[in-house]
Amino acid sequence: MAVVNEAVEKTLTVTVNGREVKAAPGQTVLEVARSIGVEIPTLCHDDRLEPYGACRLCLVEVEGARGPVPACATKVGDGMTVQTNTDKIRRLRKFVIELLLSNHPLDCPVCEAAGDCRLQDYAYEYEVNMSPWGWHPLQFESRDDHPNIARNPNRCILCGRCVRICRDVMGIGCWGFTNRGYDTIIDTPYNLPLEEVGCVSCGQCISTCPVGALSMKRSRYAARHWQTDKTTTICPYCGVGCEVVVHTHRDALVRTTATVGRGVNNGNLCVKGRFGFDFQNSPDRLTAPLVRDENGDLVPTTWDVALDRVEQNFKRIKAESGGSAFAVLASAKCTNEENYVLQKFTRAVLGTNNMDHCARL
Ligand code: SF4
Ligand code: FES
Repeated sequence: MAVVNEAVEKTLTVTVNGREVKAAPGQTVLEVARSIGVEIPTLCHDDRLEPYGACRLCLVEVEGARGPVPACATKVGDGMTVQTNTDKIRRLRKFVIELLLSNHPLDCPVCEAAGDCRLQDYAYEYEVNMSPWGWHPLQFESRDDHPNIARNPNRCILCGRCVRICRDVMGIGCWGFTNRGYDTIIDTPYNLPLEEVGCVSCGQCISTCPVGALSMKRSRYAARHWQTDKTTTICPYCGVGCEVVVHTHRDALVRTTATVGRGVNNGNLCVKGRFGFDFQNSPDRLTAPLVRDENGDLVPTTWDVALDRVEQNFKRIKAESGGSAFAVLASAKCTNEENYVLQKFTRAVLGTNNMDHCARL
């Protein structure tokens, strides 16, 4: 007799802004709202992380609840009725943003995140009054001791995303909250340089920071977010095949990012994928194949000449020493199809099974 797993079978009915939606047990109000295209603002939420409920920007009204609840951290229940955009909710969100801006530096003209800053977007969307309580920008000292990660603690809104992504996704824990109240700052243990607390330069903290507190040092002042052309492609470095977005400006590659919810990497990258892009712009890159002249010096030539030379030498070696004189090493940087063609060429044309793959070593 078939066993019916009720937990899997059961669906819930939720009403969001007057519209009935089917939801699965365990889904949050935020997830269900997004599933029907209802946007709820978030600052401390990242789909790669467990709900945290810190910023209170995602507050919504739930019928029967004692007060507004955070959509990111509230699970839906059967028959729940949710309102996401009432006057009361908009007033509360505006109040939260005004509080954040009361000590946030207004250095958007030189902030790396301008144009890609959640706080900037929401301040605009909610038409915030810039300083109902005066403006008291933070005055922390900035540290600049990491080759890839630029830090500006005065722009930090203490959402804790960097702390959590480093700890929960990377399993490292470079960041933590230090001090209390107005003196709270995101810092390394004992204020040590980032590189001394296990940082592997993945840049996940940069990728999750919703403002300009953490940014990419290598692309500082290279181009505004809205100035770049963005092309989705695959990272050229290894066989994992992470999806990256390359940002180009005036024929130069200025930044690489990854998109949460896309590809095998879900917005995450390693140090090479995120920061190792400046080789693309190097003037030392080869632009033509090189062959040795009669003096043994490498000189540029055409592909036809170079490939003819390779063919002649392959034929000569095979005639003199047989196929076993060759050994072929395939690369994880190639696609499966390219590696397949290479092994076919090795066995059928060169006549050897001397073949290996770098990922096996
Ligand atoms: Fe959030 Fe960025 Fe501050 Fe980290 S540095 S707590 S991600 S605002
Ligand atoms: Fe829900 Fe911050 S996004 S509390």
